[in-house]
Amino acid sequence: MTDERFLITGALGCIGAWAVRNLVQENVPVTVFDLASEPRRLQLLLSKEELAQVSFVAGDITDLAAFEKSLDDHDITHVIHLAGLQVPFCKADPSLGARVNVVGTVNVFEAVKRRKDRIDKVVYASSVAVFGTPEDYEPGAALTDEATLMPHTHYGVYKQANEGTAHVYWNDDGVASIGFRPYVVYGVGRDQGVTSTPTTAMLAAAANKPYHISYGGQTVFQYADDTARAFIQAARANYEGAGAFNLGGLSPQMKDVVAAIQAAAPEVADKITFEDLQLPFPPEVDGSGLEEAIGTVHHKPLADGVSETVAMFRDLIDKGRLDADVYIAERS
Ligand SMILES: NC(=O)c1ccc[n+]([C@@H]2O[C@H](COP(=O)([O-])OP(=O)(O)OC[C@H]3O[C@@H](n4cnc5c(N)ncnc54)[C@H](O)[C@@H]3O)[C@@H](O)[C@H]2O)c1
Repeated sequence: MTDERFLITGALGCIGAWAVRNLVQENVPVTVFDLASEPRRLQLLLSKEELAQVSFVAGDITDLAAFEKSLDDHDITHVIHLAGLQVPFCKADPSLGARVNVVGTVNVFEAVKRRKDRIDKVVYASSVAVFGTPEDYEPGAALTDEATLMPHTHYGVYKQANEGTAHVYWNDDGVASIGFRPYVVYGVGRDQGVTSTPTTAMLAAAANKPYHISYGGQTVFQYADDTARAFIQAARANYEGAGAFNLGGLSPQMKDVVAAIQAAAPEVADKITFEDLQLPFPPEVDGSGLEEAIGTVHHKPLADGVSETVAMFRDLIDKGRLDADVYIAERS
């Protein structure tokens, strides 16, 4: 038996769903705190029996009192904060984006500050979007944690604010935190946000359908399962400070990703294509700071992560649990 009790905000999202899956499979009690109430990503990743072990709170992270109540009702010991609105949603409604991404994160820190005796830190998602474009930095070197932050989107500015909030809570109140800066997370459940189209291509491949990925170039790829495990590892680490860390991983060219998809589903051959367009983020990041803080972070080889994803999608389609046509149409 463990005396850990995790709460994950935004756990109906992609990374959160994988974190819930891992914790349930370890028999660790886990509470989902999410504005949404439809556990559709969790249903893709967990069996009915596993899902029945999860506690659900339908709550808004902008509501401090509701969040504090859920921490106390479930006697929470570990908090992973993932709730947030992604780039397109922040662009469409910057005020709402700021309320959720900035005020919401302040609420998480404030609530944990008031329960420092029981919850020793906040683990939260920042993003690679805190950085500028490749042209903003010296070419050739992987970006370190300390590289100058130059966000170009509302979303990136809000994430930068979160990292600042973390520093102030550490300096003023001794609330420790570990911020992650994920890049392109892929895997079952990754179905929204600018960088989700490679995962949609894996679903299309599983269904033997054509798909055009919306970007190309070189980016860092992180398998959702590895990313979720790293968040859990950080929540369990002994750590003092307010570090905001790059999340490392493999830095493939999109043509290598497409080759991995074709290897996992040879029948799609040249049906999976991509736009030859580099995302406005640095092609490589140095993830060594996070590993110094929490230990080795596992990154599954690209071919394995992609073939596992294609196989999971095939299984979901075969069992009638996912309609490929509807899924692709909604994301085209
Ligand atoms: N997926 C990536 O590639 C990536 C990359 C960099 C950073 N991140 C960050 O990691 C975190 C998790 O990413 P994801 O891909 O799992 O996100 P996601 O968009 O799949 O899920 C976000 C979840 O937050 C919930 N949410 C939104 N507003 C809320 C509110 N007001 N109160 C409570 N819950 C709310 C949503 O319902 C959703 O379930 C996010 O903060 C995201 O910005 C993700």
